[in-house]
Amino acid sequence: MEFSLKQSQPDRVRTACVIVGIQEGGKLSPAGAALDAASGGYLAGLAKRGDLPARAGACTLLHSVPEITATRVAVVGLGKAGELTLKGFREAVAAAVRTAGAGGARDAAIYALEWEVPDTTAADRALQAVIVAGEGAYTFDLMKSDKAPARTGIAKLVIATTSRPTAAEERAVEQADHITEGVALAKDLGNLPSNVCTPGYLADTARALGKEHKFKVTILEQKDIEKLGMGSFLSVTQGTVEPPKFIVMEHAGGAKKDKPVVLVGKGITFDTGGISLKPGAEMDEMKYDMSGAGSVLGTFRAIAGMGLPLNVVGLIPACENMPSGTATKPGDIVTSMSGQTIEILNTDAEGRLVLCDALTYAERFEPAAVIDIATLTGACVIALGHVATGMFSNNDDLARELEGAGQSSWDRVWRMPLWDDYQDQLKSNFADMANIGGRPAGSVTGACFLARYAKKYPWAHLDIAGIAWKSGREKGSTGRPVPLLTEFLIRRTRGA
Ligand code: BES
Ligand code: MN
Ligand code: ZN
Repeated sequence: MEFSLKQSQPDRVRTACVIVGIQEGGKLSPAGAALDAASGGYLAGLAKRGDLPARAGACTLLHSVPEITATRVAVVGLGKAGELTLKGFREAVAAAVRTAGAGGARDAAIYALEWEVPDTTAADRALQAVIVAGEGAYTFDLMKSDKAPARTGIAKLVIATTSRPTAAEERAVEQADHITEGVALAKDLGNLPSNVCTPGYLADTARALGKEHKFKVTILEQKDIEKLGMGSFLSVTQGTVEPPKFIVMEHAGGAKKDKPVVLVGKGITFDTGGISLKPGAEMDEMKYDMSGAGSVLGTFRAIAGMGLPLNVVGLIPACENMPSGTATKPGDIVTSMSGQTIEILNTDAEGRLVLCDALTYAERFEPAAVIDIATLTGACVIALGHVATGMFSNNDDLARELEGAGQSSWDRVWRMPLWDDYQDQLKSNFADMANIGGRPAGSVTGACFLARYAKKYPWAHLDIAGIAWKSGREKGSTGRPVPLLTEFLIRRTRGA
């Protein structure tokens, strides 16, 4: 979908569909009122008869509205006056764009910036409108022989304003356009099956991105990983014939002396559980176990595309977790790059084993902050469901930054404890630590394990197990948390 931001007069705009809002009780948004005035009270008449949506998120498509230039008018319900939330705003935009597209329009002008939402700016709403519309336009047909049967829906969306767009609004639309591309990349990588999206495929994707956007990409091969002493990472890849990759991306948008933010993404391209084999039901969804990696690649696409003036490093330990005659066995003890030894009591707790070595590797960049992103624990799905990312941090300022970025990008996080009390659960009789902490607080002990490798810098861990993809009929990657990470990085350039 193509996006732009333009000033126009609602009754004079040349478009296949002009989109306006209506509140409960029949009050039209300013653009809606302009259409009403031009059409001699046509819309108000419909509202009076009860023919316009009364409910938030419902949308009615009108044809042949008198005396206006647009071919169609979509009127979307905004709920009670003064009560529109960001959630409601997003639903209204999605419904309007969907209705307009289904009604045959290929382009539309949406006057959404005037739909006021408490605690948001018009620029925030511009960003959200583009992201939501882009979200709805995504399809995944890379693996179908019958490609996109004559695409339907809106191809060009104008974020329309009645007054001159501000610089902040312009910037927001432009940024959102890049975020949408990043989200789409993360979705594609997640949705691709593990026989296509291998560690090598992730490495090739990184290389191609680096080439397109001129940032440095280094791929460490098995030999290099061995030389670095990443015994923990290597223990996970041991059971598969698919070569592991350790991907390093460096976006140098800031001043040379500025310390980078490091993003670390879990890149398990398939998680069978290893010798601690997972049950069969829904195991196909473990192709999504590289969603952390996908979100780092997606975020790089977004920030490199917008030329973000910040230094950002991306690290992706990528491999498969497979059972075989060479696989790691429960009880095996390995030495991580940090020197700490780990008793692997469950080979299915492999995410932390690849991440801990990446966290140690991150030290060489003298990071301003490190954020790891991982589909780490099923326990996080139980704790927070499919709404919030589980966030853990050793630094209150960093935690607050992520909370703020999550709120405004509507890609929200919820902070969980990282108290020392939980560390006891990781005690091993034979090594420095075990890789599991028992059933209670499974996502907390997973984070506590990682915390032992992240002592040298401000660090946050994002457990995205519940939010990275949807199951069931709507099965598919969500592209989260690309919006969160990008918003976080954008805010850092403002010196927040
Ligand atoms: N990738 C899984 C976590 C997961 C499971 C994410 C289901 C989303 C849905 C991870 O590698 C894993 O298997 N974790 C184990 C840890 C346990 C053995 C301590 C889990 O959650 O069961
Ligand atoms: Mn696992
Ligand atoms: Zn996993």
